[in-house]
Amino acid sequence: MFAGEPRKFSKFATMLGVGAFVMSCSAPVRVSTTPAPTVSTPLLIPMPASMQLRGGVPFEINRTTVIATPANNAEVDAIGQSFAAFLRRATEFPLVVSAAAVGGAPNTIELRLGGDAATLGDEGYNLTVTPDSVRLVANTPAGLFRGVQTIRQLLPTAIESEIGVDRSAWTIPAVSITDRPRFAWRGAMLDVSRHFFTVREVKEYIDLLALYKINMFHLHLSDEQGWRIQINSRPKLTEVGSQTQVGGGPGGFYTQPEYQDIVRYAAARYITIVPEIDMPAHTNAALAAYPEVSCSERPAGLYTGTDVGWSSICVDKEESYALIDDVVREIAAITPGPFFHVGGDEVKLLTDEQYTRFIERVQDIVNRHGKRMIGWEEIYKARLKPTSVVQSWKGDSAAQALKYGSKLVLSPAKKTYLDMKYNAGTELGLDWAALIEVNDAYDWDPATYNPGVTEKDVLGIEGPVWSETVRNIGAVEFLAMPRLAALAEVAWTPQAVRDWQSFRVRLASHAPRWRYMGVNYYHSPQIPW
Ligand code: ACM
Repeated sequence: MFAGEPRKFSKFATMLGVGAFVMSCSAPVRVSTTPAPTVSTPLLIPMPASMQLRGGVPFEINRTTVIATPANNAEVDAIGQSFAAFLRRATEFPLVVSAAAVGGAPNTIELRLGGDAATLGDEGYNLTVTPDSVRLVANTPAGLFRGVQTIRQLLPTAIESEIGVDRSAWTIPAVSITDRPRFAWRGAMLDVSRHFFTVREVKEYIDLLALYKINMFHLHLSDEQGWRIQINSRPKLTEVGSQTQVGGGPGGFYTQPEYQDIVRYAAARYITIVPEIDMPAHTNAALAAYPEVSCSERPAGLYTGTDVGWSSICVDKEESYALIDDVVREIAAITPGPFFHVGGDEVKLLTDEQYTRFIERVQDIVNRHGKRMIGWEEIYKARLKPTSVVQSWKGDSAAQALKYGSKLVLSPAKKTYLDMKYNAGTELGLDWAALIEVNDAYDWDPATYNPGVTEKDVLGIEGPVWSETVRNIGAVEFLAMPRLAALAEVAWTPQAVRDWQSFRVRLASHAPRWRYMGVNYYHSPQIPW
Protein backbone atom coordinates (compact mmCIF):
# COMPACT_ATOMS: atom_id res chain seq x y z
CA MET A 1 0.00 0.00 0.00
CA PHE A 2 2.80 2.37 0.71
CA ALA A 3 6.40 1.76 -0.18
CA GLY A 4 5.81 -1.87 -1.02
CA GLU A 5 9.25 -2.57 -2.41
CA PRO A 6 12.51 -1.61 -0.78
CA ARG A 7 14.28 1.33 -2.35
CA LYS A 8 17.93 1.68 -3.03
CA PHE A 9 18.33 5.14 -1.62
CA SER A 10 15.99 5.54 1.31
CA LYS A 11 18.31 4.57 4.10
CA PHE A 12 21.11 6.65 2.68
CA ALA A 13 18.77 9.60 2.27
CA THR A 14 17.77 9.25 5.89
CA MET A 15 21.34 9.28 7.01
CA LEU A 16 22.66 11.94 4.69
CA GLY A 17 19.94 14.55 5.02
CA VAL A 18 18.93 17.31 2.64
CA GLY A 19 22.07 18.52 0.98
CA ALA A 20 23.23 15.15 -0.15
CA PHE A 21 20.02 14.22 -1.85
CA VAL A 22 18.68 17.34 -3.47
CA MET A 23 19.83 18.04 -7.00
CA SER A 24 21.65 21.31 -7.22
CA CYS A 25 19.25 24.04 -8.25
CA SER A 26 20.01 26.98 -10.41
CA ALA A 27 19.65 30.68 -9.75
CA PRO A 28 16.16 31.70 -8.60
CA VAL A 29 14.05 33.85 -10.89
CA ARG A 30 11.44 34.84 -8.36
CA VAL A 31 12.11 34.81 -4.64
CA SER A 32 9.14 35.15 -2.37
CA THR A 33 9.87 37.73 0.31
CA THR A 34 6.66 37.20 2.26
CA PRO A 35 7.52 35.88 5.71
CA ALA A 36 6.18 32.44 6.51
CA PRO A 37 2.99 32.67 8.59
CA THR A 38 2.86 30.81 11.87
CA VAL A 39 0.81 27.73 11.19
CA SER A 40 -0.65 25.79 14.04
CA THR A 41 -2.89 23.56 11.91
CA PRO A 42 -1.61 20.15 10.78
CA LEU A 43 0.62 20.39 7.73
CA LEU A 44 -1.54 18.34 5.36
CA ILE A 45 -1.37 18.25 1.55
CA PRO A 46 -3.89 18.36 0.03
CA MET A 47 -5.61 20.55 2.62
CA PRO A 48 -8.87 18.87 3.74
CA ALA A 49 -12.19 20.44 2.82
CA SER A 50 -12.98 20.97 6.50
CA MET A 51 -10.90 20.51 9.63
CA GLN A 52 -11.29 21.45 13.30
CA LEU A 53 -8.43 21.24 15.73
CA ARG A 54 -9.60 19.93 19.08
CA GLY A 55 -6.36 20.96 20.79
CA GLY A 56 -5.06 19.37 23.95
CA VAL A 57 -3.78 15.84 24.30
CA PRO A 58 -3.02 14.00 21.06
CA PHE A 59 -3.53 10.29 20.36
CA GLU A 60 -0.34 8.33 20.76
CA ILE A 61 0.44 5.11 18.93
CA ASN A 62 2.18 2.69 21.28
CA ARG A 63 3.13 -0.95 21.62
CA THR A 64 -0.47 -2.05 22.32
CA THR A 65 -2.33 0.04 19.74
CA VAL A 66 -4.70 -2.07 17.62
CA ILE A 67 -5.86 -1.37 14.05
CA ALA A 68 -9.56 -2.26 14.09
CA THR A 69 -11.25 -3.35 10.85
CA PRO A 70 -14.74 -4.73 10.23
CA ALA A 71 -15.20 -8.51 10.29
CA ASN A 72 -15.66 -10.23 6.93
CA ASN A 73 -14.42 -7.42 4.73
CA ALA A 74 -11.26 -8.57 2.99
CA GLU A 75 -10.76 -5.28 1.17
CA VAL A 76 -10.81 -3.12 4.29
CA ASP A 77 -8.73 -5.75 6.10
CA ALA A 78 -6.09 -5.41 3.34
CA ILE A 79 -6.02 -1.61 3.86
CA GLY A 80 -5.62 -2.14 7.62
CA GLN A 81 -2.89 -4.76 7.12
CA SER A 82 -0.83 -2.61 4.80
CA PHE A 83 -1.25 0.45 7.04
CA ALA A 84 -0.08 -1.64 10.01
CA ALA A 85 2.89 -2.93 8.00
CA PHE A 86 3.80 0.66 7.10
CA LEU A 87 3.57 1.82 10.74
CA ARG A 88 5.62 -1.15 12.01
CA ARG A 89 8.69 -0.19 9.97
CA ALA A 90 9.53 2.99 11.86
CA THR A 91 7.79 2.29 15.19
CA GLU A 92 8.75 -1.39 15.55
CA PHE A 93 5.46 -1.86 17.46
CA PRO A 94 3.44 -5.09 16.88
CA LEU A 95 0.25 -3.22 15.76
CA VAL A 96 -2.20 -6.09 15.55
CA VAL A 97 -5.04 -5.80 13.02
CA SER A 98 -8.24 -7.14 14.55
CA ALA A 99 -11.97 -7.19 13.95
CA ALA A 100 -12.55 -7.67 17.68
CA ALA A 101 -11.68 -4.09 18.61
CA VAL A 102 -14.30 -2.20 16.55
CA GLY A 103 -16.68 0.27 18.17
CA GLY A 104 -14.35 2.92 19.53
CA ALA A 105 -12.39 0.69 21.94
CA PRO A 106 -9.52 2.50 23.69
CA ASN A 107 -6.15 2.66 21.96
CA THR A 108 -7.51 1.69 18.54
CA ILE A 109 -7.23 3.12 15.08
CA GLU A 110 -10.55 2.06 13.63
CA LEU A 111 -11.30 1.84 9.89
CA ARG A 112 -15.03 1.66 9.40
CA LEU A 113 -17.37 1.64 6.40
CA GLY A 114 -20.42 3.84 6.83
CA GLY A 115 -21.17 7.50 7.20
CA ASP A 116 -23.35 9.75 5.11
CA ALA A 117 -23.08 8.81 1.44
CA ALA A 118 -24.27 12.22 0.25
CA THR A 119 -21.60 14.02 2.30
CA LEU A 120 -18.69 11.71 1.72
CA GLY A 121 -19.17 10.55 -1.89
CA ASP A 122 -16.89 7.91 -3.41
CA GLU A 123 -13.61 9.01 -1.88
CA GLY A 124 -14.49 11.18 1.12
CA TYR A 125 -13.93 10.30 4.76
CA ASN A 126 -14.52 11.46 8.32
CA LEU A 127 -11.58 11.36 10.70
CA THR A 128 -11.96 11.88 14.43
CA VAL A 129 -8.86 11.80 16.60
CA THR A 130 -9.26 11.92 20.39
CA PRO A 131 -6.66 11.16 23.08
CA ASP A 132 -8.19 7.64 23.29
CA SER A 133 -8.78 6.57 19.71
CA VAL A 134 -8.66 7.35 16.02
CA ARG A 135 -11.82 6.69 14.05
CA LEU A 136 -11.84 6.81 10.26
CA VAL A 137 -15.22 6.40 8.52
CA ALA A 138 -15.86 6.30 4.76
CA ASN A 139 -18.48 4.95 2.40
CA THR A 140 -15.98 3.08 0.31
CA PRO A 141 -12.61 1.37 0.77
CA ALA A 142 -11.19 4.09 -1.52
CA GLY A 143 -12.35 6.71 0.99
CA LEU A 144 -10.69 4.78 3.81
CA PHE A 145 -7.46 4.60 1.81
CA ARG A 146 -7.50 8.37 1.22
CA GLY A 147 -8.17 8.93 4.93
CA VAL A 148 -5.28 6.66 5.88
CA GLN A 149 -2.99 8.97 3.85
CA THR A 150 -4.24 11.84 6.03
CA ILE A 151 -3.42 9.89 9.22
CA ARG A 152 -0.01 9.14 7.73
CA GLN A 153 0.64 12.85 7.18
CA LEU A 154 -0.60 13.71 10.70
CA LEU A 155 2.15 11.51 12.16
CA PRO A 156 5.73 12.77 12.61
CA THR A 157 7.66 12.64 9.33
CA ALA A 158 9.96 9.91 10.68
CA ILE A 159 7.02 7.53 10.23
CA GLU A 160 8.23 7.29 6.61
CA SER A 161 11.51 5.69 7.68
CA GLU A 162 12.08 2.17 6.44
CA ILE A 163 14.11 1.33 9.53
CA GLY A 164 13.23 1.64 13.22
CA VAL A 165 13.41 5.16 14.62
CA ASP A 166 13.95 5.69 18.31
CA ARG A 167 11.69 8.56 19.31
CA SER A 168 9.73 9.37 22.41
CA ALA A 169 6.23 9.65 20.93
CA TRP A 170 4.30 8.76 17.76
CA THR A 171 1.48 11.24 18.15
CA ILE A 172 -1.52 12.21 16.03
CA PRO A 173 -3.01 15.62 16.91
CA ALA A 174 -6.63 15.66 18.11
CA VAL A 175 -8.63 16.77 15.04
CA SER A 176 -11.98 16.33 13.35
CA ILE A 177 -11.83 16.23 9.57
CA THR A 178 -14.59 15.88 7.00
CA ASP A 179 -13.03 15.63 3.59
CA ARG A 180 -13.83 14.78 -0.01
CA PRO A 181 -12.22 15.66 -3.34
CA ARG A 182 -13.24 18.62 -5.48
CA PHE A 183 -12.58 16.69 -8.72
CA ALA A 184 -13.11 13.02 -9.58
CA TRP A 185 -10.03 12.90 -11.88
CA ARG A 186 -6.81 13.81 -10.10
CA GLY A 187 -4.23 12.56 -12.54
CA ALA A 188 -0.56 12.17 -13.29
CA MET A 189 0.97 11.01 -16.59
CA LEU A 190 4.34 9.44 -17.27
CA ASP A 191 5.79 9.26 -20.79
CA VAL A 192 7.51 5.85 -20.85
CA SER A 193 8.09 6.09 -24.62
CA ARG A 194 10.64 8.93 -25.00
CA HIS A 195 12.57 7.22 -22.23
CA PHE A 196 11.65 3.87 -20.77
CA PHE A 197 11.12 3.40 -17.03
CA THR A 198 11.30 0.02 -15.31
CA VAL A 199 8.39 -1.50 -13.41
CA ARG A 200 10.22 -0.74 -10.19
CA GLU A 201 10.62 2.94 -11.16
CA VAL A 202 6.96 3.20 -12.13
CA LYS A 203 5.96 1.74 -8.75
CA GLU A 204 8.14 4.27 -6.99
CA TYR A 205 6.25 7.05 -8.77
CA ILE A 206 2.91 5.43 -7.88
CA ASP A 207 3.94 5.48 -4.19
CA LEU A 208 4.36 9.23 -4.43
CA LEU A 209 0.98 9.67 -6.18
CA ALA A 210 -0.74 7.70 -3.40
CA LEU A 211 0.62 9.99 -0.66
CA TYR A 212 -1.05 12.98 -2.34
CA LYS A 213 -4.42 11.31 -3.09
CA ILE A 214 -3.88 11.20 -6.87
CA ASN A 215 -6.28 8.62 -8.31
CA MET A 216 -5.58 8.38 -12.07
CA PHE A 217 -2.23 7.32 -13.56
CA HIS A 218 -1.93 7.73 -17.32
CA LEU A 219 0.85 5.77 -19.02
CA HIS A 220 1.93 7.20 -22.40
CA LEU A 221 2.90 3.80 -23.85
CA SER A 222 3.78 4.63 -27.46
CA ASP A 223 5.27 7.44 -29.50
CA GLU A 224 7.77 8.05 -32.31
CA GLN A 225 10.66 6.70 -30.24
CA GLY A 226 9.30 3.56 -28.67
CA TRP A 227 6.46 1.05 -28.31
CA ARG A 228 6.36 -0.06 -24.68
CA ILE A 229 3.73 -2.80 -24.25
CA GLN A 230 3.68 -6.38 -25.47
CA ILE A 231 0.88 -7.15 -27.94
CA ASN A 232 0.73 -10.92 -28.48
CA SER A 233 -1.01 -10.80 -31.87
CA ARG A 234 1.47 -8.17 -33.14
CA PRO A 235 4.83 -9.29 -31.75
CA LYS A 236 6.95 -6.97 -33.91
CA LEU A 237 5.55 -3.91 -32.10
CA THR A 238 7.92 -4.71 -29.25
CA GLU A 239 10.48 -6.89 -31.10
CA VAL A 240 11.22 -3.91 -33.35
CA GLY A 241 9.44 -0.89 -31.86
CA SER A 242 10.78 -1.07 -28.30
CA GLN A 243 14.46 -1.29 -29.11
CA THR A 244 15.54 2.28 -28.51
CA GLN A 245 14.61 5.65 -26.99
CA VAL A 246 15.58 9.34 -27.16
CA GLY A 247 19.33 9.59 -27.45
CA GLY A 248 19.68 5.98 -28.61
CA GLY A 249 19.58 4.07 -25.35
CA PRO A 250 18.31 0.50 -25.16
CA GLY A 251 14.59 1.31 -24.62
CA GLY A 252 12.46 -1.54 -23.32
CA PHE A 253 8.85 -2.63 -22.88
CA TYR A 254 6.44 -4.11 -20.37
CA THR A 255 5.31 -7.69 -20.90
CA GLN A 256 1.59 -8.08 -20.33
CA PRO A 257 2.19 -9.70 -16.90
CA GLU A 258 4.43 -6.74 -15.98
CA TYR A 259 1.75 -4.27 -17.06
CA GLN A 260 -0.78 -6.22 -14.99
CA ASP A 261 1.59 -6.05 -12.04
CA ILE A 262 1.61 -2.23 -12.39
CA VAL A 263 -2.20 -2.21 -12.68
CA ARG A 264 -2.49 -4.26 -9.46
CA TYR A 265 0.06 -2.16 -7.60
CA ALA A 266 -1.86 0.99 -8.53
CA ALA A 267 -5.23 -0.59 -7.73
CA ALA A 268 -4.05 -1.46 -4.20
CA ARG A 269 -3.57 2.30 -3.79
CA TYR A 270 -6.96 3.08 -5.41
CA ILE A 271 -5.26 4.49 -8.49
CA THR A 272 -6.70 3.70 -11.94
CA ILE A 273 -4.32 3.10 -14.85
CA VAL A 274 -5.20 4.89 -18.10
CA PRO A 275 -3.21 3.34 -20.99
CA GLU A 276 -2.42 5.58 -23.98
CA ILE A 277 -1.56 4.44 -27.48
CA ASP A 278 -0.94 7.69 -29.36
CA MET A 279 -2.32 7.79 -32.92
CA PRO A 280 -2.63 8.61 -35.82
CA ALA A 281 0.58 10.68 -35.47
CA HIS A 282 3.34 9.90 -32.96
CA THR A 283 3.43 6.41 -34.46
CA ASN A 284 6.92 5.95 -35.92
CA ALA A 285 7.84 3.04 -33.63
CA ALA A 286 4.73 1.13 -34.75
CA LEU A 287 5.35 1.97 -38.42
CA ALA A 288 8.93 0.70 -38.12
CA ALA A 289 7.50 -2.62 -36.91
CA TYR A 290 4.59 -2.87 -39.40
CA PRO A 291 5.39 -0.75 -42.51
CA GLU A 292 2.18 -2.02 -44.15
CA VAL A 293 0.14 0.39 -41.99
CA SER A 294 2.04 3.42 -43.25
CA CYS A 295 0.93 5.04 -46.50
CA SER A 296 4.40 4.79 -48.04
CA GLU A 297 5.01 1.16 -46.99
CA ARG A 298 8.71 1.98 -46.89
CA PRO A 299 10.12 0.55 -43.68
CA ALA A 300 10.64 3.50 -41.34
CA GLY A 301 13.81 3.48 -39.32
CA LEU A 302 13.70 3.73 -35.55
CA TYR A 303 13.89 7.31 -34.33
CA THR A 304 15.85 8.68 -31.38
CA GLY A 305 15.28 12.43 -31.79
CA THR A 306 12.62 14.63 -30.22
CA ASP A 307 10.64 16.14 -33.12
CA VAL A 308 6.88 15.55 -33.09
CA GLY A 309 3.95 15.13 -35.45
CA TRP A 310 5.77 13.98 -38.60
CA SER A 311 4.56 10.38 -38.75
CA SER A 312 1.08 9.01 -39.43
CA ILE A 313 -0.57 5.66 -39.55
CA CYS A 314 -2.36 5.35 -42.92
CA VAL A 315 -5.97 6.26 -42.17
CA ASP A 316 -7.25 5.03 -45.57
CA LYS A 317 -6.13 1.43 -45.17
CA GLU A 318 -8.15 -1.36 -43.53
CA GLU A 319 -4.91 -2.95 -42.27
CA SER A 320 -4.48 0.07 -40.00
CA TYR A 321 -7.82 -0.53 -38.27
CA ALA A 322 -7.10 -4.26 -37.95
CA LEU A 323 -3.86 -3.46 -36.12
CA ILE A 324 -5.57 -0.86 -33.90
CA ASP A 325 -8.31 -3.35 -33.09
CA ASP A 326 -5.75 -5.96 -32.00
CA VAL A 327 -3.92 -3.43 -29.83
CA VAL A 328 -7.04 -1.99 -28.18
CA ARG A 329 -8.52 -5.45 -27.61
CA GLU A 330 -5.41 -6.83 -25.90
CA ILE A 331 -4.77 -3.78 -23.73
CA ALA A 332 -8.45 -3.36 -22.82
CA ALA A 333 -8.55 -6.99 -21.67
CA ILE A 334 -5.83 -6.38 -19.06
CA THR A 335 -6.97 -2.89 -18.00
CA PRO A 336 -9.76 -2.88 -15.41
CA GLY A 337 -10.20 0.92 -15.52
CA PRO A 338 -12.90 2.36 -17.81
CA PHE A 339 -10.69 4.52 -20.06
CA PHE A 340 -8.50 3.99 -23.14
CA HIS A 341 -6.46 7.00 -24.31
CA VAL A 342 -5.98 7.30 -28.08
CA GLY A 343 -3.68 10.33 -28.19
CA GLY A 344 -4.85 12.21 -31.27
CA ASP A 345 -2.48 15.15 -30.79
CA GLU A 346 -0.19 17.07 -33.15
CA VAL A 347 -1.28 15.62 -36.47
CA LYS A 348 0.45 17.40 -39.35
CA LEU A 349 0.04 15.03 -42.30
CA LEU A 350 -3.76 14.63 -42.52
CA THR A 351 -6.69 16.75 -43.64
CA ASP A 352 -9.39 17.51 -41.06
CA GLU A 353 -11.71 15.10 -42.90
CA GLN A 354 -9.16 12.27 -42.71
CA TYR A 355 -8.44 13.05 -39.06
CA THR A 356 -12.05 13.17 -37.86
CA ARG A 357 -12.99 10.04 -39.82
CA PHE A 358 -10.06 8.26 -38.15
CA ILE A 359 -10.89 9.39 -34.61
CA GLU A 360 -14.57 8.42 -35.01
CA ARG A 361 -13.60 4.93 -36.18
CA VAL A 362 -11.13 4.52 -33.35
CA GLN A 363 -13.80 5.73 -30.88
CA ASP A 364 -16.03 2.87 -32.12
CA ILE A 365 -13.20 0.36 -31.67
CA VAL A 366 -12.51 1.57 -28.12
CA ASN A 367 -16.22 1.42 -27.24
CA ARG A 368 -16.56 -2.05 -28.79
CA HIS A 369 -13.86 -3.27 -26.43
CA GLY A 370 -15.78 -1.90 -23.46
CA LYS A 371 -13.84 1.31 -22.80
CA ARG A 372 -14.52 5.03 -22.88
CA MET A 373 -12.29 6.99 -25.25
CA ILE A 374 -10.13 9.82 -23.98
CA GLY A 375 -7.89 11.81 -26.29
CA TRP A 376 -5.87 15.01 -26.37
CA GLU A 377 -7.61 18.32 -27.09
CA GLU A 378 -7.50 18.00 -30.91
CA ILE A 379 -10.12 15.21 -30.90
CA TYR A 380 -12.79 17.89 -30.30
CA LYS A 381 -12.93 18.16 -34.12
CA ALA A 382 -14.52 14.70 -34.37
CA ARG A 383 -18.11 13.76 -33.56
CA LEU A 384 -17.58 12.56 -30.01
CA LYS A 385 -19.80 10.40 -27.82
CA PRO A 386 -20.89 12.06 -24.56
CA THR A 387 -18.96 9.30 -22.77
CA SER A 388 -15.70 10.33 -24.44
CA VAL A 389 -13.34 12.66 -22.58
CA VAL A 390 -11.18 15.44 -23.99
CA GLN A 391 -7.84 16.24 -22.36
CA SER A 392 -7.07 19.88 -23.08
CA TRP A 393 -3.43 20.94 -23.09
CA LYS A 394 -3.27 24.06 -25.27
CA GLY A 395 -6.66 25.27 -24.05
CA ASP A 396 -7.64 27.32 -27.10
CA SER A 397 -10.28 24.80 -28.17
CA ALA A 398 -11.27 23.45 -24.75
CA ALA A 399 -14.78 24.93 -24.84
CA GLN A 400 -15.47 23.50 -28.30
CA ALA A 401 -14.97 20.03 -26.88
CA LEU A 402 -18.19 20.45 -24.91
CA LYS A 403 -20.53 20.55 -27.90
CA TYR A 404 -21.22 16.80 -27.89
CA GLY A 405 -21.49 16.58 -24.11
CA SER A 406 -17.97 15.29 -23.43
CA LYS A 407 -16.27 16.21 -20.18
CA LEU A 408 -12.80 17.72 -19.91
CA VAL A 409 -9.61 16.76 -18.14
CA LEU A 410 -7.50 19.90 -17.94
CA SER A 411 -3.76 19.67 -18.46
CA PRO A 412 -2.91 23.27 -19.41
CA ALA A 413 0.74 23.10 -20.44
CA LYS A 414 1.52 26.44 -18.76
CA LYS A 415 0.33 25.10 -15.38
CA THR A 416 0.44 21.32 -15.29
CA TYR A 417 3.21 20.17 -17.65
CA LEU A 418 5.57 18.94 -14.98
CA ASP A 419 8.38 18.53 -17.52
CA MET A 420 8.66 22.30 -18.01
CA LYS A 421 11.70 23.90 -16.39
CA TYR A 422 11.20 25.74 -13.10
CA ASN A 423 13.34 28.65 -14.23
CA ALA A 424 15.69 29.49 -17.10
CA GLY A 425 18.58 27.78 -15.35
CA THR A 426 16.91 24.44 -14.60
CA GLU A 427 19.04 21.78 -16.28
CA LEU A 428 16.31 19.19 -16.84
CA GLY A 429 13.08 19.77 -18.70
CA LEU A 430 11.84 21.85 -21.61
CA ASP A 431 10.54 25.42 -21.83
CA TRP A 432 8.33 25.62 -24.94
CA ALA A 433 5.13 26.20 -22.92
CA ALA A 434 6.41 28.17 -19.94
CA LEU A 435 8.79 28.27 -17.04
CA ILE A 436 6.69 26.94 -14.14
CA GLU A 437 7.70 27.79 -10.58
CA VAL A 438 5.82 26.19 -7.70
CA ASN A 439 3.46 29.16 -7.26
CA ASP A 440 2.61 29.08 -10.98
CA ALA A 441 1.60 25.42 -10.63
CA TYR A 442 -0.51 26.30 -7.57
CA ASP A 443 -2.19 29.59 -8.50
CA TRP A 444 -4.95 28.75 -10.94
CA ASP A 445 -8.56 27.64 -10.80
CA PRO A 446 -9.70 24.85 -13.14
CA ALA A 447 -13.24 26.29 -13.10
CA THR A 448 -12.17 29.62 -14.62
CA TYR A 449 -8.98 28.82 -16.55
CA ASN A 450 -10.52 28.22 -20.00
CA PRO A 451 -13.05 30.72 -21.42
CA GLY A 452 -16.44 29.03 -21.81
CA VAL A 453 -15.57 26.16 -19.47
CA THR A 454 -17.09 25.96 -16.00
CA GLU A 455 -16.67 23.67 -13.00
CA LYS A 456 -19.40 21.25 -14.12
CA ASP A 457 -17.60 20.65 -17.44
CA VAL A 458 -14.39 19.61 -15.72
CA LEU A 459 -13.86 16.00 -14.72
CA GLY A 460 -10.53 16.94 -13.23
CA ILE A 461 -6.91 17.82 -13.92
CA GLU A 462 -3.73 15.94 -14.76
CA GLY A 463 0.00 16.64 -14.65
CA PRO A 464 2.07 14.97 -17.40
CA VAL A 465 5.80 14.30 -17.26
CA TRP A 466 6.99 14.08 -20.87
CA SER A 467 10.35 12.36 -20.86
CA GLU A 468 12.49 13.91 -23.59
CA THR A 469 15.06 15.02 -21.01
CA VAL A 470 14.59 12.55 -18.16
CA ARG A 471 16.24 9.17 -18.11
CA ASN A 472 15.53 7.81 -14.64
CA ILE A 473 12.93 8.13 -11.93
CA GLY A 474 15.11 10.45 -9.83
CA ALA A 475 15.00 12.96 -12.70
CA VAL A 476 11.22 12.50 -13.05
CA GLU A 477 10.84 13.17 -9.33
CA PHE A 478 12.97 16.31 -9.56
CA LEU A 479 10.57 17.73 -12.16
CA ALA A 480 7.41 16.48 -10.44
CA MET A 481 8.24 17.50 -6.90
CA PRO A 482 7.06 19.78 -5.55
CA ARG A 483 4.73 20.75 -8.41
CA LEU A 484 2.84 17.44 -8.21
CA ALA A 485 1.91 18.27 -4.60
CA ALA A 486 0.62 21.66 -5.80
CA LEU A 487 -1.44 19.97 -8.52
CA ALA A 488 -2.82 17.47 -6.00
CA GLU A 489 -4.12 20.33 -3.85
CA VAL A 490 -5.61 22.17 -6.86
CA ALA A 491 -7.44 18.94 -7.74
CA TRP A 492 -8.62 17.93 -4.26
CA THR A 493 -9.16 21.02 -2.12
CA PRO A 494 -12.10 23.44 -2.57
CA GLN A 495 -10.88 26.66 -4.18
CA ALA A 496 -12.07 28.71 -1.18
CA VAL A 497 -9.92 26.65 1.19
CA ARG A 498 -6.71 26.95 -0.87
CA ASP A 499 -4.09 29.52 0.01
CA TRP A 500 -0.56 29.87 -1.36
CA GLN A 501 0.98 31.23 1.85
CA SER A 502 -0.38 28.31 3.83
CA PHE A 503 0.59 25.85 1.09
CA ARG A 504 4.23 26.91 0.91
CA VAL A 505 4.65 26.44 4.67
CA ARG A 506 2.95 23.05 4.61
CA LEU A 507 5.03 22.06 1.58
CA ALA A 508 8.26 22.85 3.39
CA SER A 509 7.30 20.42 6.13
CA HIS A 510 6.97 17.60 3.57
CA ALA A 511 10.62 17.65 2.48
CA PRO A 512 11.81 15.43 5.36
CA ARG A 513 9.10 12.96 4.34
CA TRP A 514 10.45 12.88 0.77
CA ARG A 515 13.96 12.35 2.05
CA TYR A 516 12.85 9.35 4.08
CA MET A 517 11.06 8.05 0.97
CA GLY A 518 14.14 8.57 -1.16
CA VAL A 519 12.26 11.04 -3.37
CA ASN A 520 14.33 13.60 -5.24
CA TYR A 521 12.96 17.16 -5.41
CA TYR A 522 13.61 20.73 -6.51
CA HIS A 523 14.67 23.01 -3.71
CA SER A 524 12.52 25.96 -4.82
CA PRO A 525 13.55 29.37 -3.45
CA GLN A 526 9.84 30.14 -2.98
CA ILE A 527 9.48 27.60 -0.19
CA PRO A 528 10.65 28.19 3.42
CA TRP A 529 12.37 24.80 3.67
C1 ACM B 1 0.92 17.12 -26.18
O1 ACM B 1 1.59 17.79 -25.38
N1 ACM B 1 1.33 16.93 -27.42
C2 ACM B 1 -0.33 16.51 -25.77
